Amino acid sequence: MPPKIESAEALPLGLSITWTDAAQADFPWIWLRDHCRAPESYDGATNQRRVDTFALPADLAAESVAVGGAGAVLEVSWRQEDLISRYDSGFLRAQAFGEARLPDRRLWEDGPPEPARHRFDEILEGDAALRGLLSDLWRDGLVLVESLPSEIAATRRLAERIGYVRETIFGGVWDFQADGARADSAYSNEAIGLHSDGTYSEDPPGVQALHCLAFDGEGAVNVFADGFRVAARLQAEAPETYRLLSEVEVPAEYLGDGVHLLARHPVLGLDAAGGLRRVCFNNFDRAPFRPRPVVTEAFYAALGRFHALLSDEDYHLRLQLSPGLAVLFDNWRVLHARSGFTGHRHMAGFYLNHEDLESRLRMLLG
Ligand SMILES: [Fe+2]
Repeated sequence: MPPKIESAEALPLGLSITWTDAAQADFPWIWLRDHCRAPESYDGATNQRRVDTFALPADLAAESVAVGGAGAVLEVSWRQEDLISRYDSGFLRAQAFGEARLPDRRLWEDGPPEPARHRFDEILEGDAALRGLLSDLWRDGLVLVESLPSEIAATRRLAERIGYVRETIFGGVWDFQADGARADSAYSNEAIGLHSDGTYSEDPPGVQALHCLAFDGEGAVNVFADGFRVAARLQAEAPETYRLLSEVEVPAEYLGDGVHLLARHPVLGLDAAGGLRRVCFNNFDRAPFRPRPVVTEAFYAALGRFHALLSDEDYHLRLQLSPGLAVLFDNWRVLHARSGFTGHRHMAGFYLNHEDLESRLRMLLG
């Protein structure tokens, strides 16, 4: 239960709410009227706004304010309208101090985590297992699914249990082997260094799954590194480098197979509040570009410093995927690599949108 409202004090520009735990926040009149939850202002069935925000009077003010329900509800009656707006304490509290929270992320600060393992059959059967899988994926950026049948139909069932499959140049649920079928090094047996996938997309894939269908050979070790840990280190040790990597938009492209995808992202994508939202780094797919000459040397130095931190093997998670095992990782956070290999290797996988991972988690966490 959220704390109760202790008091609501009317100010010239709005209300100052104080909760019983002494938390306090101000809500301007126009915000309160715009967020009125009365049926004429808001459709509770579709969760869509009905109020005509742009028709609200400029001199909005309350006729009276009351705290009801023993502190559970705020009631505002308006001077200009015959309307009482009611707001739950929890709603106001969430707006003041943050949306429904996803689990805290646990950065790989003391080395890579022991990846959580979840069974395929349990994930299919119950929401508690799925909630555990996705919470672990969010917390650590990576999780393992075991006891998967070695067939692409199982890969698809796993994808569809979480969300809808993201279509890309590679298809929906894809499989690949070292046959050069696409203009991408994934379809070879070469070593591939640490990178994010889909940096050439306006919305890089949020989750990637790699499911081993068959492997009879040597090598092909998957390596993972926590890009958020690297970013945190940079921010602490070299704030100017962090700032540069959050500002310079780096183009990436996929050119081949009849397409030319091109998008630009900073290596460190920040949200409006300055929080780290996404790491986007793929030196292989970086497109030709010419940063402003005055920042070019600093940019290359910053990219090099990011790469050096990323390359610290003490923070690498190394996995040998074998038939029956899949790894899911947050492609906006965890970068991946693969060592070269010999022999036969058949992999399947898929992408999901990041927003769909977040949506599924919010629904499962309630
Ligand atoms: Fe990749």
